[in-house]
Amino acid sequence: MVKKLSLVLMALLLIVLSACSSSSSSSDKKKTIVMGTSADYPPFESVDTANGNKIVGFDIDLAKAVAKELGYKLEIKNQDFSGLIAALGSKKVDFVMAGMVDTPDRRKQVDFSKTYYQSFQVILTRKGTNIKTMEDLKNKKVGVQLGTTQETLAKKVSKTIPMKIQTWDKLNEMVEAMRAGKLDAIVTVDTVAYGYTSKDKTFQQFNAVVDGKTQYDPISAAFPKNSKLAAQFDKALQKLAKNGTKDKLVNKWIKNQ
Ligand code: ARG
Repeated sequence: MVKKLSLVLMALLLIVLSACSSSSSSSDKKKTIVMGTSADYPPFESVDTANGNKIVGFDIDLAKAVAKELGYKLEIKNQDFSGLIAALGSKKVDFVMAGMVDTPDRRKQVDFSKTYYQSFQVILTRKGTNIKTMEDLKNKKVGVQLGTTQETLAKKVSKTIPMKIQTWDKLNEMVEAMRAGKLDAIVTVDTVAYGYTSKDKTFQQFNAVVDGKTQYDPISAAFPKNSKLAAQFDKALQKLAKNGTKDKLVNKWIKNQ
């Protein structure tokens, strides 16, 4: 009798164990979504060299929160900004968060989420150069990141204020080049520039006002055309805005509010 009972118990135990292991293997199968980014654009995304080269930033934390909301595992692929649209086209990544602006031109190739952060374009320069207005950029060496809305703006402005435009793959390397005196100014956005001007008092920034207007650079996430993820993303984003998560992340990362 005792033997019989222990056999029954053993069988029960086995059933429970196998149920546990099958449920853990199904959670291992949680779908992974791959995000493309260009980690040279703090505070949106950068490589934390002091912390095992982890990729960190506002976009990263927001992406993690969205993925969690949707029940996905998140994988991050770092690459140059100028190749991100192509990476979406060839489905190497499921979406992109890289401080990217929703433009009509890009819309021909990809879909965008709603705007999740509003930046605007600025000129980052060194105090010693005495560049204080857009007109002062005349004949100066001006750096822009390849394939960005900053490149588009610089080209447009240079029709009236001729400048020597240089394109760079990585924004952080461009800033180092300016520190070394190889560039006079850089077109970037308010928040990114603030990261440099707040730490190094030899840097300064001013708004890139063109035709009397602030040049907004509203940020969205990008998806392959007709990706179902775009609508899911917007829904999750809306929830994170409502429940205060997004504001918490803005306050954590964006200091020039
Ligand atoms: N906002 C600009 C654009 O869409 C520049 C973004 C650059 N982002 C980056 N991670 N380097 O074109």
